[in-house]
Amino acid sequence: MDNICVIGSGYVGLVTGTCFADLGNNVVTVDIDERKIEGLKNGEMPIYEPGLEELVERNVKAGRLRFTTSYEEGLKDAKFVFICVGTPSAVDGEADLKYVRASAQTIGEKMTHPLIVVNKSTVPVGTGDWTAEIIQSAQETPIDFSVVSCPEFLREGSAIPDFMNPDRNVFGSSNREAAEEVAKLYSPLGAEAVITDIRTSEMIKYASNAFLATRISFINEMSIICERLGADVTEVARGMGFDKRIGPHFLSAGVGYGGSCFPKDVKALANMALTHGMHPQLLNAVMEINDFQRKQIGLKIRELLDNNLEGKVIGLLGLAFKPNTDDIREAPALTVARTLMNQGAIVRAYDPVAMENVAKEMPSIELVEGPYEVAEGADVLVLMTEWNEFKNLNMDRIKGLLKTPILVDGRNIYDPDTMRERGFVYRGVGRGFNGEGVLATTGD
Ligand code: UGA
Repeated sequence: MDNICVIGSGYVGLVTGTCFADLGNNVVTVDIDERKIEGLKNGEMPIYEPGLEELVERNVKAGRLRFTTSYEEGLKDAKFVFICVGTPSAVDGEADLKYVRASAQTIGEKMTHPLIVVNKSTVPVGTGDWTAEIIQSAQETPIDFSVVSCPEFLREGSAIPDFMNPDRNVFGSSNREAAEEVAKLYSPLGAEAVITDIRTSEMIKYASNAFLATRISFINEMSIICERLGADVTEVARGMGFDKRIGPHFLSAGVGYGGSCFPKDVKALANMALTHGMHPQLLNAVMEINDFQRKQIGLKIRELLDNNLEGKVIGLLGLAFKPNTDDIREAPALTVARTLMNQGAIVRAYDPVAMENVAKEMPSIELVEGPYEVAEGADVLVLMTEWNEFKNLNMDRIKGLLKTPILVDGRNIYDPDTMRERGFVYRGVGRGFNGEGVLATTGD
């Protein structure tokens, strides 16, 4: 069992540290945010992630997991130090690396013995090299250390099972021995270990996220074509997914990808390409389609309400960028809400866990206690996030509560025929049909 220090107690840091503690290691998590650390010491989670609270509690009780604001305390007995700080997008799409820089600087200043420094934050290709330079120049007397890139592939909402059952782990370093040492930490998980150089490892993370975002934009573009041609994109995706070369995952058309990763990482990769004199055509198209998909929902609602949103009540089911998280960063629901409100609509919404964040970020959205309250007197009901609790609603009750029975299903979770039989005017994403609405016409 090893001693591990984790810098950053946000999403990645907290999950990584807690899971390593659960694997039997001694973990100290460091964060400069005193409130966060105080909260964690009292068992309060700074993020919502299924299973995290119980796992933190168990490992704190077992004495394997501690929280501190002091780098000295964190680094004291550590063999490994994981950098898990945020890398937000700067205005031009470039990743803002001030937190990575600051932690490298402080590690260099405070380290008293040899360390393996592992970077888990998503950082532009080449960051590992200058991280090493910063640490070295911050040291008063030279102490041996190695930098290893080990990108995280966790998804919000399933971060703990993703950590415990990874498809692969990637370790990149100019010091192969150090990369192998980090790989050993992950070996109880039994996944494939890709050991490579540091730049390749950093690039694997961007390329993976960009590819997944491309799949989403691809199927979203197909959804627009399907809608026009009278085909159903959910069936198209199912039919495609049986081909082993394609596979069934990440082919759900919807309101576009959001969250703290895909939008930021695709933009950052495009920016890296641009600054090196390239024209990232595909990445640009991926981003453009994603923006368009959000606009489409607004247009659909407007068209269903006779092109007049003034004073209309639009009910939104779900606000988080996806289910099982309270994260509203780049959430399509907020973009759509803003567009509708700018055109005079009143937006009312419910989300099982993200409402506290929305109240702070967009107080003009009227927040209510549940899905039925959203429907009450609304002109249209729009499903934005596919939380499980929205899948089995009493749709007859919903219909009775709505002012007009219009249902826009932004994630294709309802069966179109059943909804129409129940008397709804139903619109999904990419589910063309003959008979209702101009969106089904081919124009020829
Ligand atoms: C994503 C990646 O899936 C993780 O592997 C990666 O570690 C993480 O980014 C990161 O870089 O930290 P995450 O942003 O938590 O994870 O969420 P996903 O489950 O991948 O979903 C991203 C977005 O794509 C959501 O808005 C979701 O609704 C959308 N999506 C996903 C679709 O619209 N269609 C799909 O078929 C799948």
